Amino acid sequence: MTDRLTIAIQKSGRLSKESMALLNACGVKFSVNEARLIAHSTSHPIDLLRVRDDDIPGLVMDGVVDLGLVGENVLEEVRLERIATDSVAAYQPLRGLEFGQCRLSLAVPRESQYQSLQDLDGLRVATTYPQLLKRYLKDNGVNARTVMLTGSVEVAPRAGLAEAICDLVSTGATLEANGLVEKDVIFRSQAQLIQRADSLSEEKQAMIDQLLPRIDGVQMARE
Ligand code: PRP
Ligand code: ZN
Ligand code: MG
Repeated sequence: MTDRLTIAIQKSGRLSKESMALLNACGVKFSVNEARLIAHSTSHPIDLLRVRDDDIPGLVMDGVVDLGLVGENVLEEVRLERIATDSVAAYQPLRGLEFGQCRLSLAVPRESQYQSLQDLDGLRVATTYPQLLKRYLKDNGVNARTVMLTGSVEVAPRAGLAEAICDLVSTGATLEANGLVEKDVIFRSQAQLIQRADSLSEEKQAMIDQLLPRIDGVQMARE
């Protein structure tokens, strides 16, 4: 039986389409059944695992999958979380990819008196990225409280849950639509290809070694 290489990608979200397009451009063919978690490649001994982006770093760090395509924001958040809880947090970064660009930013309501980061002292900041936010606040000596929300972070100020938010921004449309103004960029992100830290079988490693120059070629051609 051939050893199949497993790659975790985001099931639906900002990275999904481009993750699939990149693999396709590298000659790795798939037909995805929306209802299925796993898609088998028809051209290579490769299986795609379609999961929530938040689960991708952990699957790679635990060695459940061989490769993962994930946003650096999610990757760094999970890494910090795992370090804080003494869990395995190792992985091998392979390539920064030229898609999924976004930034994690602090934003406040338009009518806020906010002038500098210190103004957050004693206030509540809602976010899905508590580790990245806490590190930034600590590095800047600000004593704000972190309110963890897994979604709809942009409505937290209006709902009275927090005075500020820390969330992903790409076009800025979500902030605009919710009467929020971006103040500080705390983390810049793009998609990254990562590999599990332990060594793989010769066949699997050979497949990765063949895939990487193709990825470089695809990215070069897009420039
Ligand atoms: C992020 C963020 C905002 C939106 C910002 O959500 O939470 O909702 O993108 O993008 P914009 O500046 O282009 O409006 P994402 O799409 O990652 O989904 P999620 O909130 O479900 O994780
Ligand atoms: Zn997500
Ligand atoms: Mg969102």
